[in-house]
Amino acid sequence: MTYEMIITRTEGADARKVGIVTLNRPKQLNALNNQLMDELGSALKAFDADDSVGCIILTGSEKAFAAGADIGAMAQYSFADVYNNDYITRNWEHIRSIRKPVIAAVSGFAVGGGCELAMMCDFIIAADNARFGQPEIKLGIIPGAGGTQRLPRAVGKAKAMELILTGRMMDALEAERAGLVSRVVPLEKLMDEALGAALMICSYGQPSVFAAKEAVNRSFDSGLSDGVMFERRLFHALFATEDQKEGMDAFVNKRKPAFKHR
Ligand code: HXC
Repeated sequence: MTYEMIITRTEGADARKVGIVTLNRPKQLNALNNQLMDELGSALKAFDADDSVGCIILTGSEKAFAAGADIGAMAQYSFADVYNNDYITRNWEHIRSIRKPVIAAVSGFAVGGGCELAMMCDFIIAADNARFGQPEIKLGIIPGAGGTQRLPRAVGKAKAMELILTGRMMDALEAERAGLVSRVVPLEKLMDEALGAALMICSYGQPSVFAAKEAVNRSFDSGLSDGVMFERRLFHALFATEDQKEGMDAFVNKRKPAFKHR
């Protein structure tokens, strides 16, 4: 498939590479419209299905990861338009079915649907110029791609409520203090840092990477007892993999593991 609103490429010299998706509507600060979201879903699914890819990075431009859903497109929508066409649910949630880790490398504005898209990723590395917020209230709506659910889980109710009710943006350092982003790095190092993390993930055995992502995600969908039981079952299951034998044998024999991803 050829893309008009995103750019895809891979990086890495080893057998397993990093798939990179760059949102590319610079004049609109990567405002997210239907075509862009269709293309993004298709690219993520293609990388997920590609055995030579071990991890995915989603990024934007220096000025904007994404400034939200496309307001120009939304302005004329009626209730019937959004309800009948299942707006958002139809093509924004592909990312939730991606099994490989997806890292959001965020510089500039990640607001509205842009902040929600970043929060759908597995973790966020932020450049020092990143700004996060949910300004939908200023448009007479509320966040509609999971923001009212994921932001409180990330930063706690008080800060999420304040940001969603006032539309205030927070800078990268506040986002890091609040737990929304895993790390803040200088803008010029953003892609190197994200790639470093992604290549590290690529070097590990795929079953354990899948299991780690599934188990951490489970903590948001279940109570502690169920979550710990889910983790324990996955943990036990990994002892059936060749990679567990290889990883532990390599440690015991002081050599580098050669994972086969099985
Ligand atoms: C459409 C947008 C856009 C958006 C920016 N642009 N954000 N177009 N949808 N969400 C366009 C502007 O109209 C402008 O086009 C160009 O991008 C540059 O933007 P400026 O405003 O000139 O840039 P700047 O002054 O630097 O301000 C940056 C900004 C501001 C603070 C991010 O653009 C802004 O407030 N944008 C809207 C943010 C927002 O409300 N997002 C939430 C959307 S609702 P022209 O043609 O004039 O150059 C949402 C719903 C989520 O996301 C629910 C479901 C997903």
